Amino acid sequence: MPLRVEYDLRPFRPSGPPTLWRYAAVLPIEPRHAVSLAEGFTPLLPAGDGILIKDEARNPTGSFKARGMSLAVSMARALGAKALLAPSAGNAAGALAAYGAAAALPVTVAMPEDTPRAFVEECRQYGAQVHLVPGSIADAGKWLKANGPRDAFDVSTLKEPYRVEGKKTMAYELHEQLDGKLPDVIVYPTGGGTGLVGMWKAFDEMERLGWIGKQRPRLVSVQAEGCAPVVKGFEENAAKTEPWPAPATEAYGLRVPSPIGGFICLTALRETHGTAIAVAEREIVPAAQELSRKTGVDVCPEGGAAWAATCRLRANGWIRSGETVVVFNTGTGLKYR
Ligand SMILES: Cc1ncc(COP(=O)(O)O)c(C=O)c1O
Repeated sequence: MPLRVEYDLRPFRPSGPPTLWRYAAVLPIEPRHAVSLAEGFTPLLPAGDGILIKDEARNPTGSFKARGMSLAVSMARALGAKALLAPSAGNAAGALAAYGAAAALPVTVAMPEDTPRAFVEECRQYGAQVHLVPGSIADAGKWLKANGPRDAFDVSTLKEPYRVEGKKTMAYELHEQLDGKLPDVIVYPTGGGTGLVGMWKAFDEMERLGWIGKQRPRLVSVQAEGCAPVVKGFEENAAKTEPWPAPATEAYGLRVPSPIGGFICLTALRETHGTAIAVAEREIVPAAQELSRKTGVDVCPEGGAAWAATCRLRANGWIRSGETVVVFNTGTGLKYR
């Protein structure tokens, strides 16, 4: 069962430089002890018709994974870890390698062998040990368990509680950037689900802080048809996700066949009256290009999937005209090309 950080919440106002450390009052470690590369406070850019793009490509190492790894590495170092490891679809490995370098802690990562080269080179650039493994991130995780360094602390998705704390700051930023309001709908490409789980947790904290009422943005989980355990679980009204056999998609961050937090994603989608959408593989890259050409934002395949789902939900009326919609571009597209 994933651990969840609880706070004795006290009133606060965000303050300080434009990074996620503006929300230090709801983070587990003080900024002076943090391993930080100035992550967070990414821009919210207009894409027309009330749609806003939260551009996470602007983070260090080019993805929202920087948020989680800043917190996870800060806490691991503070609690005495001497080395770090994680399996990854690509972006988390790059972020862990960079934050490990900033913390002077050795890093070992394992990734599927078909992960685009740029992710592998990036990790080596920061001095990480990289292992390429046949199969998906699940196989990379098994490989590390059997063969990884024994003394390294495992910062896999939801196996420690602090990556979620970093990712929840995306929701705090939306509240601040939208002048104390939240959007009606949030469209989020979902793999392991930490971003979704983190934002859902942040809304609870905001309610307890008195910042918002009971109403929540409707959360939309977007997956690829070739790996859609959360969508299947949602459609079947299941309590938990089932492992997806033979996961396949070039939106590599979505190729997570057995998300540990799948059951939490399903609860978050239902409680917020959200939904889950699977996008066909052939839609993903053209949708990423369409959004890039419309906005000038460097859109990754996962962001393309989110855009394709947004267009579908607009067309079928699930997103109503006049609603404020935030679509997450979770990373840079450059490393996939
Ligand atoms: C670009 C990108 N988008 C989305 C995801 C999925 O993120 P989460 O694990 O928070 O669901 C990943 C994970 O690897 C990713 O790299």
